[in-house]
Amino acid sequence: MAVTGPVTEVMRAGGSHIPDLLDRVEQRLAEAAAGHGALLAEHAGSTIAAGGKRLRPLLVFLAADGEEGEGLVRAATAVELVHSATLVHDDVLDAAALRRGVPTVVATAGRGAATATGDLLFARAFAELAVNGRADEIRVLSAASSALAEGELLQRADAWNPAVSLERYLRRCELKTARLFEAACRLGALEANGEPEQLGAFGRRIGLAFQLLDDVLDVSGPAARTGKQRGTDLLDGTVTLPFILARERDSELAALDPRSIDSAEAAEDVCDRIAATGALDDARARALEMVNEAKAGLPAGLSARQRHALELVATGVVARYA
Ligand code: IPE
Ligand code: IPE
Ligand code: MG
Ligand code: MG
Repeated sequence: MAVTGPVTEVMRAGGSHIPDLLDRVEQRLAEAAAGHGALLAEHAGSTIAAGGKRLRPLLVFLAADGEEGEGLVRAATAVELVHSATLVHDDVLDAAALRRGVPTVVATAGRGAATATGDLLFARAFAELAVNGRADEIRVLSAASSALAEGELLQRADAWNPAVSLERYLRRCELKTARLFEAACRLGALEANGEPEQLGAFGRRIGLAFQLLDDVLDVSGPAARTGKQRGTDLLDGTVTLPFILARERDSELAALDPRSIDSAEAAEDVCDRIAATGALDDARARALEMVNEAKAGLPAGLSARQRHALELVATGVVARYA
């Protein structure tokens, strides 16, 4: 999946050095995946090569407005490696067939290979960041990785429970997604002697909105655009905001036991039914509110260029289709 539309616009706004920084990340990602045996190199390499939006590295760079050093590139690479590791493990937990438009590691090589591939990517992430020699940076990435694992466990704990509360849903999204966005912004700010607290809060808010949109896209698809199978969440018992909202409006959905959804076709039918309630628009509206809060909370002292670029990313999070 190539870096597309809104991201290209953000890259332009962020400064002409951004594409070069992202190229340097690609090189380091490819190197990080290699050199640990042919099998792991194949699976880790294909995960990296399948692309992705590279949104988290972009956030590291925008939070570091103007910085271009090797330490910054290493921080951005480390964040993307943690992200890639969690995706490979997440596809095991979610029994997902498709990722970035191609079959997942678990689907092609099984659970064991996917577990080891994710482990390798995690290990490479911290090896990459360790070269910077900064305990504060390691702490930031470690906290986000721990939160991610906690979020994934919370999701499994709540699986198949159609009555899961909005509060628990939001907590899960915060842990599994928002914290890594926060870490990306914090790391950029730390490298640039910027404002880690306020930029971190920005990252956290847009990260939460990002997960809400992801959950909308799981229902709306289409797979050709998202690179993931529609209805994956319903099929693995993950109850998300669209379903939570739709249950309040459609009594048949409220009575539906998620365990009765037993095929991809059945899941797509439930997706259509959820969409028909208008719940997707409401979920998008909630995400937009979060994005507006994120923009409003940006620190006053940012350069006009940095503010504009960060605002564009925030807008892109709620306008996205992939
Ligand atoms: C997917 O993240 C996982 C979530 C947090 C929803 P992305 O949508 O950023 O995945 P890629 O990197 O672009 O494939
Ligand atoms: C985010 O949740 C997963 C991680 C943060 C690892 P999802 O399970 O919804 O992400 P996708 O849809 O598989 O990318
Ligand atoms: Mg998943
Ligand atoms: Mg999803």
